[in-house]
Amino acid sequence: MFINFWYPAEQSKNIGSEPVKRRMLGQDFVLWRDSKGQAHCLSNTCTHRGGSLSGGKVKDDCIQCPYHGWRFDGDGNCTAIPSLGPDPKIPARTRIDTYPVVERYGLVFCFLGDLPEEERPPIMGIKEWEQEGWSHTIQHYEFNINFQRSIENGIDPAHNEFVHDTHGFKGDWDDYKTPEVIPERTDWGTGFGFTIKAPPLAEKEMRKVSGRDDDAIIWAATGHEGVSSLWTFIHPTDEVHIHQYMFECPVDDENVKVWLINLRNFLTEPEHDERMVGRNEYVVFQDRDVLLDLNPVETPPTRNNEFFMPADLCIGEYRDRLREWEARGWRIDSDEVNRNQMKVAYAIPSPERRNIKGWVLDPVPLVDGSNAELELDKAAGE
Ligand code: FES
Ligand SMILES: [Fe+2]
Repeated sequence: MFINFWYPAEQSKNIGSEPVKRRMLGQDFVLWRDSKGQAHCLSNTCTHRGGSLSGGKVKDDCIQCPYHGWRFDGDGNCTAIPSLGPDPKIPARTRIDTYPVVERYGLVFCFLGDLPEEERPPIMGIKEWEQEGWSHTIQHYEFNINFQRSIENGIDPAHNEFVHDTHGFKGDWDDYKTPEVIPERTDWGTGFGFTIKAPPLAEKEMRKVSGRDDDAIIWAATGHEGVSSLWTFIHPTDEVHIHQYMFECPVDDENVKVWLINLRNFLTEPEHDERMVGRNEYVVFQDRDVLLDLNPVETPPTRNNEFFMPADLCIGEYRDRLREWEARGWRIDSDEVNRNQMKVAYAIPSPERRNIKGWVLDPVPLVDGSNAELELDKAAGE
């Protein structure tokens, strides 16, 4: 798992004046919305005796710990220590890590890391959002799947033929060959487009709209942006477009939360939403069923323990990016975190840690990036 990216914590509509606890990157956070409507995200661990802040209350726009009533404002500053009486001198070191929050596309994104604003990777954009002629649906799932496995599945063109009977032939097409993957790179990701032969659409109404009654050639494109966002465009015809954006959040190394925003430029009336959602869910669950049973749960540490094919090119590029981000010191040392699980409460380092010294919680241990750097040098020299 990686710090220094924006992660979706929840849908905006689910964050109100009651505190909620959300686990991301193996750590707990508390989120709430203040009286001005601003959402906040803080490390969930109280700096006094480790109370779980989300178990407390929101009072005067601050979160109040359920254990001894300390209060913290949305900037993480402690504003009340009841045991000191009504006019306390509050030590600055009692502060708690607080994370930048942006609400976009109906989701609450939290920046979990310490990069200054100008260096942060962006939130993946949805250019069709609120554009005329498009309508959208949002679906949410939590799966017992490692996030990297999930992202790699999204940029894997060779599985469609076997996993999805909606856009492949379950291996019954003798002349099947995965189209060539020609990567297109952005600052934070890699994608590719291709055409595939697909069976007729199951739904009569969609057949009518797309003009597809037979097996058809559909154009599709997919890619990742950053560590855990995916986009997929499916064009059954030149006029009928489905654009999907998947924002994923590693809960920990074994679980992932997924928000799927599906935009379509046909059958845009709300009465068709349910059918679109059902169709997406059918496909998502087909992926889930395969991913739930991969061995090992996470991707192996080196490519020697897997066999790469040309169709896996984008997956290889994604892993190269992960190594680059590891070389920058962004990968969490999960082994170390797990070793100390019962004894040490960590915080994901927040941007304020770059400006202020003296924090109660240790920052989450990070993998020493120099090994990844050596590997990158080696790969570049090959
Ligand atoms: S543990 Fe939070 S106030 Fe004591
Ligand atoms: Fe799939």
